[in-house]
Amino acid sequence: MITQKLEPLFKLENYQRQPRFQNGFYQQDILSVNQFGKENLDYIFERADEMKAMAHQWGTCDLLKDYTLACVFYEPSTRTSSSFISAMARLGGKVIPITEGIQYSSVSKGESLIDSILTLEQYCDVIVLRHSEIGSSATAAKYAKVPIINAGDGAGEHPTQALLDLYTIQSELGHIDGLKVAMVGDLRYGRTVHSLTRLLSQYDVSLRFVSPETLRLPMDLMNDLIDKGIKVRETNKVSDVIENADVLYVTRIQKERFTDLAQYEEVKNYFEITPEVMAQAKEKMIVMHPLPRVGEIHYKVDRDPRAAYFRQVQNGLYIRMALLAAVLGQA
Ligand code: CP
Repeated sequence: MITQKLEPLFKLENYQRQPRFQNGFYQQDILSVNQFGKENLDYIFERADEMKAMAHQWGTCDLLKDYTLACVFYEPSTRTSSSFISAMARLGGKVIPITEGIQYSSVSKGESLIDSILTLEQYCDVIVLRHSEIGSSATAAKYAKVPIINAGDGAGEHPTQALLDLYTIQSELGHIDGLKVAMVGDLRYGRTVHSLTRLLSQYDVSLRFVSPETLRLPMDLMNDLIDKGIKVRETNKVSDVIENADVLYVTRIQKERFTDLAQYEEVKNYFEITPEVMAQAKEKMIVMHPLPRVGEIHYKVDRDPRAAYFRQVQNGLYIRMALLAAVLGQA
């Protein structure tokens, strides 16, 4: 029998988990690019620059050592899931990874999204969520007490991808105003296109949309751009835009979003960016792609210094480090 008075395990009075910065992101959900004005964008981009310098100099730090992320992916991912996990590791935090095998979680027993979120939030400080339904992150955010970061909701939005895309354009070309940006591929289902287009519409840019008829940009988004006075043009040929584009943003035809696979077969080999196509482009143009690619950009293009898509991948790490730290009040 224990008779002595128990000593407390922890001296809790000496420790308070407080935000270090009042940044406007603390404890906020990140659901849509509509939450980001130019000031917020500049803030995150400056923090991402700091994260990049830190990662190059030190590799890791302990900024988020007291925090845990739940990374919950109901749809496949390589870049978004691993970059969030890497971001947390480089900042000294912990991760609950429900990424490669959601089938091994209780979702396979029929657990609802909300119950999964309400459970996971007991174990973590922030949740990154990818799901196939538009609005799923917003629904999760309604119930969760911890911040939800939308890592892609069906054909809806992919806000963290758009932030890293914009950061890449600024890092590569030094500015955003005045640029001619051509978006190529699946503009109907491509959530990265939807989010980046919304962010770009805050700037003085010209937008060119290149796609087959059936995969045009959604009408509501196009109308928003026109209402904002953005110069837009639609075409179905890359050759119409390649000579003048400063940014060629290429996307995959999203097979998984088609209900009729015959329609996918009709458009799947719609275009390919090859060295011959690149020969027509400006010397200072950049080619971007959110990846994965499935034949839209020939591998030979990778050797072209204008191919920015793997630098874009790296920028995803710094942007996600900045976002996690900002949401947790540590940047
Ligand atoms: N760009 C992107 O979202 O890639 P993943 O699907 O691999 O996460």
